[in-house]
Amino acid sequence: MLNKLLSYISEDIAIDLGTANSLVYVRGRGIVITEPSVVAVNKKTGQVLAIGQEAKKMVGRTPAYIVATRPLVSGVVSDFEVTEQMLRYFIEKAHKRKFFLNPRPRVIIGVPCGVTEVEKKAVCDAARNAGARVVFLVEEPMAAAIGARLAVQEAGGNFIVDIGGGTTEVAIISLGGIVLSKSLKVAGDKLNEDIIQFAQDEYRLLIGERTAEAIKIGIGSAYPLKEKRQLPMRGRNLVTGLPEEILVSDEDIRRALEKSVKQIVTEIKTAIEETPPELLADVMASGIQLSGGGSLLKGLDTLIQKETKIPTKIIEDPMTAVVRGAGMVLENLDELNEVLVETEYLEPPK
Ligand SMILES: Nc1ncnc2c1ncn2[C@@H]1O[C@H](COP(=O)(O)OP(=O)(O)OP(=O)(O)O)[C@@H](O)[C@H]1O
Ligand SMILES: [Mg+2]
Repeated sequence: MLNKLLSYISEDIAIDLGTANSLVYVRGRGIVITEPSVVAVNKKTGQVLAIGQEAKKMVGRTPAYIVATRPLVSGVVSDFEVTEQMLRYFIEKAHKRKFFLNPRPRVIIGVPCGVTEVEKKAVCDAARNAGARVVFLVEEPMAAAIGARLAVQEAGGNFIVDIGGGTTEVAIISLGGIVLSKSLKVAGDKLNEDIIQFAQDEYRLLIGERTAEAIKIGIGSAYPLKEKRQLPMRGRNLVTGLPEEILVSDEDIRRALEKSVKQIVTEIKTAIEETPPELLADVMASGIQLSGGGSLLKGLDTLIQKETKIPTKIIEDPMTAVVRGAGMVLENLDELNEVLVETEYLEPPK
């Protein structure tokens, strides 16, 4: 009874706690928060100074004892207390309008496939401590598939590849469950590292992560582009110690990314090899669906399609699919509860 009353006054929320970006969806309102998963911490006192956008702005501009950390590594909680503070910040921010209440919402959170019991407990406990009344978990590729409006509850096979910042997750979904999944710790962040490494090896140029990401998004590709592209890459020459600018081409960057891109493609191929033949027949008809920010790398869909011989496309709005899908699960809990991950937290405490 009390629970029913509570669900009227506090709005349920869905959270995609990504390695790179976190998104929050409020039932009935849609996506209300999109912020980088960054927390600025004072190392001397352990105090959290800023979260999200604010914290990202501080990166590289603060005294050495203030560090910007990412509380999640490969989508899994690596720093429990910081994750809890970040969740509390999101929950409170999402409920800003209702300052006169102390809302304890039901919260659904996306987690990578195959998280361990310990990892599940860490996320649930952090959300509980941050103010959630009930915590549900949903696997990210499942949420992405629901967000893409694939028929996850039907018998046909759905093949989804979520390429985020920290992980690439491949999942085959049928009858509301994940039939097979693979997780690889190579995704968007690794591609940035590849560009940093390339600049160092090739030109003795030290570049920052933001520069690397801008180059990746600007001219990075997995498959030859129709038109040649170039961008200046700015950094510090490691020999002279002086600033330097070097013009790099899409071809240079494609070469820098080649190894990691190949690992992603191989992971997809391995999943295809392991897919039961009946489901594979469905997948050949329905195609491979890509989600996550990493899937936006130019030509990656073309390369995957060429290598697997299965039609491949990026779903609409790939970076918000997980949180939208999780939100849809919240809105239709009766119908979709079978897609939730089993936890001991499905019921509120007595
Ligand atoms: N246009 C683009 N081209 C290439 N990469 C992109 C583009 N836009 C975003 N990205 C990359 O997408 C990644 C972030 O994607 P996303 O927000 O889906 O990750 P996440 O959900 O936070 O991570 P994870 O799911 O691994 O925990 C970053 O590495 C970013 O550089
Ligand atoms: Mg993600």
